[in-house]
Amino acid sequence: MGDNILTDCYLERQKRTKWFTDARFGMFIHWGLYSIPARGEWVRSKERMSIEDYEPFFKEFNPVNYNPREWARAARNAGMKYAVLTAKHHDGFCLFDSKLTDYKATNTPAGKDLVREYVDAFHAEGLKVGLYYSLLDWHHEDYPAYSDSHHPMRGNENFKNKKHDFSRYIEYLHGQVKELLSNYGKIDIIWFDFSYDDNRGEKWEASKLVKMVRSLQSDIIIDNRLGGNLRSRNPEIYAGDFECPEQIIPPEGVLNEDGLPLPWEACITLNNNWGYCSKDKDFKSPKQIIRAIVECVSKGGNMLLNVGPNSKGEIPEESLKVLSEVGKWMKQNSKSVYGCGKSQYAKPEWGRYTQNGKKLYAHIYDRGIGPINFKGLNGKVAKARLLSDGSEVKLLKPWNTGNYPDDLFIELGSQKLPDENDTVIELDLDL
Ligand code: GLC
Repeated sequence: MGDNILTDCYLERQKRTKWFTDARFGMFIHWGLYSIPARGEWVRSKERMSIEDYEPFFKEFNPVNYNPREWARAARNAGMKYAVLTAKHHDGFCLFDSKLTDYKATNTPAGKDLVREYVDAFHAEGLKVGLYYSLLDWHHEDYPAYSDSHHPMRGNENFKNKKHDFSRYIEYLHGQVKELLSNYGKIDIIWFDFSYDDNRGEKWEASKLVKMVRSLQSDIIIDNRLGGNLRSRNPEIYAGDFECPEQIIPPEGVLNEDGLPLPWEACITLNNNWGYCSKDKDFKSPKQIIRAIVECVSKGGNMLLNVGPNSKGEIPEESLKVLSEVGKWMKQNSKSVYGCGKSQYAKPEWGRYTQNGKKLYAHIYDRGIGPINFKGLNGKVAKARLLSDGSEVKLLKPWNTGNYPDDLFIELGSQKLPDENDTVIELDLDL
């Protein structure tokens, strides 16, 4: 390692994010007024909807079946260890009882603080709790509209000469973050979204914001969307603790400029929308999600898998079905996910490796023909077990492998994989 590239900042961040990088798998929850139009969370912007056009949803919002304990159980049974709920999305609607606005769930027919119930329920089920907070606010009168890139009233002549006091908006933003991190007990993640154009860094007064965040919740971890450069050796105070690549798994994982691994979390939708979209039935399969989780872990990252509850407060059945199937696989194989990361061995042709110290996990996707090859592992493995049931997997040097003396082979004893989603073999490395 070069001189002092393991900076105090780097080491403190690794310590602060240890629970997160061990957890590997969380639930993202996008929920709010947009669940009524049911065309995704950007509906106001995409359809240039005025506040007046959107107002009926505020007057109507009444999630009669909201039961966050059920959400938490679904997350826990899927093998998720933490969750992040949209406390306020870009439309400015607050799911929490903010004293700084009337635009909140307590003033709708819902009539209660939905964040409070979420935090209590997920803590009760033993999960860590995160809150997503939008830096954008299309409802606040001091958030620029006409010249903005995303505001629903962008380019609307009626807004051309409207005056905004952006410093008053920043005061509101900081005040609400203070409410969220003061009034709901221990919060483990604050997930800001998002910086764009010149709206980044100190435009949000991000240094002051992060100092306050860390003063209120000393162990909290922060995403990197305040606009800093987390990959720098000397990142800004507001660069955050983890990267959050969206709808993509970074091909090579995430490293800083010194080539050191950084915590990261791929946030992925189950269909193609974050917020509830009734027509979007394009759901990923359990196999896709299982293999995506393994891919993230094999590259040293996490997966934050999204659900978009409907206006009644129900997670869609299609989402619950996928979560349940993923949970069955996790129940048998989570040792190959939790606390694991990138292996010292190159990706094998039949699947992927994850590793946790002396435990190497072979995730076999492609049965292939004959004995399964573990390149360069001959003499390095003490024993192998099928992770799902602990049964012995014999280490072999079959007659037809004489030309590959450095390699180890195993025989699964069948042309079919025990688990077509992902058959996991636990190898004890004799390091
Ligand atoms: C994008 C979307 C936003 C969503 C976020 C999740 O920023 O605009 O709606 O909350 O991704 O990562």
